[in-house]
Amino acid sequence: MTRLEPKQRTLWRHARLATFASPSGWDIIERGALIAEGDRIVWVGQEAQLPAASQVHTEVNLNGALVTPGLIDAHTHLVYGGDRAAEFELRLSGATYEQIARAGGGIRSTVRATRSADDASLLSAAANRARVLMNEGVTTVEIKSGYGLDAVHEARCLGVARRLAEQLPISVLTTSLGAHALPDEFSGRPDDYIDAVCQWLPQQHQAGLVDAVDVFCDTIGFTPAQTRRVFDAARALGLPVKLHAEQLSNQEGAALAASYGALSCDHLEHLSDTGLRAMRAAGSVAMLLPGAYYFIRETRLPPVQALRDAGVPIAIATDHNPGSSPALSLILMLNMACTLFRLTPEEAWRGVTVNAARALGLTDRGRLQVGLRADLALWDAEHPRELAYRFGHAPCLGSVHAGRPRNSVQPFIQPGTCS
Ligand code: NIG
Ligand code: FE
Repeated sequence: MTRLEPKQRTLWRHARLATFASPSGWDIIERGALIAEGDRIVWVGQEAQLPAASQVHTEVNLNGALVTPGLIDAHTHLVYGGDRAAEFELRLSGATYEQIARAGGGIRSTVRATRSADDASLLSAAANRARVLMNEGVTTVEIKSGYGLDAVHEARCLGVARRLAEQLPISVLTTSLGAHALPDEFSGRPDDYIDAVCQWLPQQHQAGLVDAVDVFCDTIGFTPAQTRRVFDAARALGLPVKLHAEQLSNQEGAALAASYGALSCDHLEHLSDTGLRAMRAAGSVAMLLPGAYYFIRETRLPPVQALRDAGVPIAIATDHNPGSSPALSLILMLNMACTLFRLTPEEAWRGVTVNAARALGLTDRGRLQVGLRADLALWDAEHPRELAYRFGHAPCLGSVHAGRPRNSVQPFIQPGTCS
């Protein structure tokens, strides 16, 4: 007969907690404490109010460090081969992102590099990128396919994303983005390619590779009619959708995605009033991506005030990809969201915690609250606003994923004394 091991209970004490537990405000708890049991938070509050009989196995004195929910990067393209540094130079000498894409570069050049990379190198490159994110407190990441663009290579990239979560202490949600660009072999036949995308989706789903489905709906991507076909295929499988919408032009993609109950509509620089109203009605999250806005030197801003006025939740992500946002710092995105998009530091923080969780359809993380996952980020800072204020500097002391501290947190750990 097997005996169930009692779950590890850890007390994290002498912390300043930013819980984001209420719908607005930082919800700071000075001299706070948190108890994790297994992968869950079972107590959070002021240390002075800790129940007398709190039996724990381990006690960690955080010496006044700031603790926030583990960060969630809810829009990345982390799995790919090669880079696009030469394309960056081309853009600096005058070519636009769109011109390079139309000339066969852009996403399609990364597709060539990805197809020729073997699984091991795709995995190690993606793992290195994930580690950089994790070193700044990221505990959950969404990863899209979209650089394979055929059944075999798309499945391979999704498989690499799944394997990442087995190898590293990070949660991964996968998104199938076969409709990211038209691969060379389907040149002039976008509808045939969409047929293929819709055909391989059930296989990917059956193999457990897909948590959500995305499309790039734009002049250099796919039309709303083609997007609709991919969304119908997703709906038939019960998979949630999201959309790269209104990044370079207004295709009324956000309204279309919202009509399928999209988790999020992403980019949105060209969002129309119709799209915004549809997103509000559907409860879709506005996923703003300041890294891509900055890197491709967009000049049109997403309609932040209108989103705010409508009460549409706003999330922020790195959009890490080799072409439009080779950024690997979600903390830098806080500053860019404030400086470029005029978000408040609190809105930016909610964008990488509670609203980012919502953009992934997750209700078990993004706040420090009893019953939620013990995913924490620890900072050498007095207040979270400092992390949105500085740039090029993210004083992360470590993180805790599903109740388990990463190595960098170990120096804080003192032998348990209160069990
Ligand atoms: O989110 N817009 C489409 N997809 C990516 C860019 C991908 C690439 O350029 O490789 C984005 O910006
Ligand atoms: Fe993207």
